[in-house]
Amino acid sequence: MSEVTNTVRFALDGQIVEVKGERRTTTVLNYLREELRRTGTKEGCAEGDCGACVVLVGELNENDSAIDYVPVNSCLQLLPTLDGKVLKTVESLSSGSHPQHPIQEAMVSCHASQCGFCTPGIVMSLVHMAQVTPKPSRQDITDALSGNLCRCTGYKPIVEAAQKACDSSVSLSLQDPKDIELLKQIKRSDQPTLSLEGEIIVQPVVRTRKGNEFVSPSTLAELSHYMLQHPEATLLAGSSEIGLQVNKDFVRPDHLVYIGHVKELQAVKTLTTHWQVGAGVGLQEVMNLCAKELPDFAEVLRRFGSPPIRYTATLAGNIANGSPIGDSMPCLMALGAQVGLRRGDKSRLVALENFYTGLKKNVLQAGEFIEFIQIPRLKAHERFVAHKVSKRFEQDISATCGAMCYTLKDGKLTQVRLAYNGLTPYPARAPKMEKVLEGQRASDVLASDLDRAIAESFTARDGLRATWAYRALLARNLVLKFIHPLDMEVSPS
Ligand SMILES: Cc1cc2nc3c(=O)[nH]c(=O)nc-3n(C[C@H](O)[C@H](O)[C@H](O)COP(=O)(O)OP(=O)(O)OC[C@H]3O[C@@H](n4cnc5c(N)ncnc54)[C@H](O)[C@@H]3O)c2cc1C
Ligand code: FES
Ligand code: FES
Repeated sequence: MSEVTNTVRFALDGQIVEVKGERRTTTVLNYLREELRRTGTKEGCAEGDCGACVVLVGELNENDSAIDYVPVNSCLQLLPTLDGKVLKTVESLSSGSHPQHPIQEAMVSCHASQCGFCTPGIVMSLVHMAQVTPKPSRQDITDALSGNLCRCTGYKPIVEAAQKACDSSVSLSLQDPKDIELLKQIKRSDQPTLSLEGEIIVQPVVRTRKGNEFVSPSTLAELSHYMLQHPEATLLAGSSEIGLQVNKDFVRPDHLVYIGHVKELQAVKTLTTHWQVGAGVGLQEVMNLCAKELPDFAEVLRRFGSPPIRYTATLAGNIANGSPIGDSMPCLMALGAQVGLRRGDKSRLVALENFYTGLKKNVLQAGEFIEFIQIPRLKAHERFVAHKVSKRFEQDISATCGAMCYTLKDGKLTQVRLAYNGLTPYPARAPKMEKVLEGQRASDVLASDLDRAIAESFTARDGLRATWAYRALLARNLVLKFIHPLDMEVSPS
């Protein structure tokens, strides 16, 4: 059953906070600073880039025995998404006997803070890292900090502080039985509410006087029912796009439908031929899922935003958003991924390469949404390669990301599927370039043939992040990079 109308309930520092009458688009950051006067959490950019606003949000694990925490950019998250969850801010780290968390103590002793503006966000990112990776390597620490900008201290003492705190024998765990009890009290039911006639009723978490709503269904049946009744409603997943629209463009969708509580959408199924990833699954989980079998895809995802973005943003949100420079889509298209779409009780499977119909346009009908993504696993002798080119290594958007899947038969490239972002109004395959490669030995592929195919395939247009000349060069050089090791295999000398 959905929870009481117009009340958002979450746990904070041993208490249940009940929020009534807040707007459906109030951000967690604004609520913390302006209503709760918790000003430890800072606003730097309000667009997910600086990490000054990082807080941790937790939910009960599957058997209700512990809490899984994720770092989030509170500037992008809408307050009603907290319903049924626990929130930890930098203020939550002090307790009577320990005014500072061991990570804060290490930050002080390593001189890892100067003006201090970035420090609460950095501390929260490191506290999260300590929950999932108690004995981190230097790489783990720099990955954990990739979404936190510090303009004055420099990262060396911050990394040292993280290492020092994690090397000590003091517990850095946030697990607290009191929080688990509170979460059980406010846990959202996973059963739909039915009217006397057996009709599904989706109770809003927030409803305005005008009748605009924020709803948070718990089941796929509720979600698809609501979307049929309100086809104009905006689906909200990780909020990394919608939070931006709210903050920067002052967008105020009438109906917001949060999918973070829809149990069926949080599932990942591992089958022999493919993985089926629910539309609510975060990119970090997809990255972990693919790390062994598709390391290049996992690496593209490791460079996708930052941990707070990856833990919240979904693969389905990336696909549905349809940015021309979206990073997951070239990889998924090269792999031959399909999207499972749902409208009411009807489902259909669409190949991702046929999903887009124009710039930010797709085949979704009114009331239809992405239910899952099927990511094929590699068949015997199939190989997958991908690379993202951006100005900065981390927390940056692609100039171009390319991905290629192929089978090597008698030393020749066959069944080549090549896809890019950044070259077309939406990520797409490059069939003319595939034709240049098909049936060729890597050593016989000519750069000039690739250049000709690029010129014939795409409309030259300069973009904000790269000129056309640069992107065209990248498109060719990425292929040469992808096939270079094959040259070595064919002629080891
Ligand atoms: C700081 C920052 C860094 C970023 N870095 C990258 C990057 O490196 N690479 C990159 O490609 N992108 C990047 N992005 C863009 C963004 O994070 C991705 O597009 C993300 O995957 C969107 O997912 P989400 O779950 O947050 O979507 P949301 O913001 O919740 O929704 C995005 C859109 O998808 C729709 N939608 C969501 N779920 C569904 C569904 N199941 N069915 C139909 N429609 C749906 C929503 O209605 C909305 O229109 C970045 C964004 C930020 C703010
Ligand atoms: S304020 Fe910069 S990431 Fe949120
Ligand atoms: S200490 Fe000033 S921004 Fe980091």
